[in-house]
Amino acid sequence: MKIAFVGKGGSGKTTLSSLFIRHLAAAGAPVVAVDADINQHLGTALGLEDAEAAALPAMGERLPLIKDYLRGSNPRIASADMMIKTTPPGEGSRLLRIREDNPVYEACARSLRLDDGEIRLMVTGPFNESDLGVACYHSKVGAVELFLNHLVDGPEEYVVVDMTAGSDSFASGMFTRFDMTFLVAEPTRKGVSVYRQYKEYARDFGVALRVVGNKVQGPDDVDFLREQVGDDLLVTVGQSDWVRAMEKGRPAPFVSLEPQNRTALGTLLAAADATYGRRDWERYTRQMVHFHLKNAQSWGNARTGTDLAAQVDPAFVLSEAVPQLS
Ligand SMILES: Nc1ncnc2c1ncn2[C@@H]1O[C@H](COP(=O)(O)OP(=O)(O)O)[C@@H](O)[C@H]1O
Ligand SMILES: [Mg+2]
Repeated sequence: MKIAFVGKGGSGKTTLSSLFIRHLAAAGAPVVAVDADINQHLGTALGLEDAEAAALPAMGERLPLIKDYLRGSNPRIASADMMIKTTPPGEGSRLLRIREDNPVYEACARSLRLDDGEIRLMVTGPFNESDLGVACYHSKVGAVELFLNHLVDGPEEYVVVDMTAGSDSFASGMFTRFDMTFLVAEPTRKGVSVYRQYKEYARDFGVALRVVGNKVQGPDDVDFLREQVGDDLLVTVGQSDWVRAMEKGRPAPFVSLEPQNRTALGTLLAAADATYGRRDWERYTRQMVHFHLKNAQSWGNARTGTDLAAQVDPAFVLSEAVPQLS
């Protein structure tokens, strides 16, 4: 299951992603956690020291390796250089699983022991000034898009992506890659306006989007969110002393998280799991082709000097049933 946490900066994406990841790990579920937020804090939210977090391998710096592995023997992709972030898999491409060892995890993922389990963590790498213009930001997040577009995940195994909800994530197909998108919103007009924008983009793509109210302080906050987002409001989370203690560098065991917050995490998981029955690999594949053709036209063809539409394998449908190429 592919799950994203999106929202405005400061809304609590990283905090709620990290709690959700801990919740999954506590249940013994296999998890790949991905930090694709502009402010890279998922590692520290999962308990790493600053120096350890800074030493994590950056996916954005390992794109050639990622591309070369995923390309496999796909005859439509002549070289890794010809592969852009939206290049879809086809016959001969290597696919990724959540539960396996592969060169992509070996280069980009670190195992992390949480108090109740072990997960894999991958990070895009820090964004700098020039990344916030269009191209480079995309190339870092592009590593995550390639990962998701080659992943064949099943039920009860999870990729959780902590992700910025900016117009940036809409130019690529990133926002369509998830079984469930949790939009984290504080009960403020700004929080809700990010939701409206996301909803607008998501509408034509069948994106499952639910709002998680965060830093909610009372019934008035809940009423506000309900009034603004209606039934899209899934659950609300209040100020957590457990989170505060962790931020002070005094982490408590995860079992001592406030019961109401634990219940909220259970609600998120149930909502995500419930989407599995509606998963549609054909649509998923069609959408990646759609965004590939769009990116090819707008910049990819010019960049690579080829017609990238030729990379599309018309007969290929990504699915859990596609046999693995060794
Ligand atoms: N439910 C919560 N309880 C306590 N503190 C929270 C909660 N949600 C977020 N915070 C705090 O708010 C700040 C911003 O949260 P963060 O998760 O980093 O936001 P984002 O990733 O969306 O930018 C952090 O200091 C975080 O610890
Ligand atoms: Mg963050």
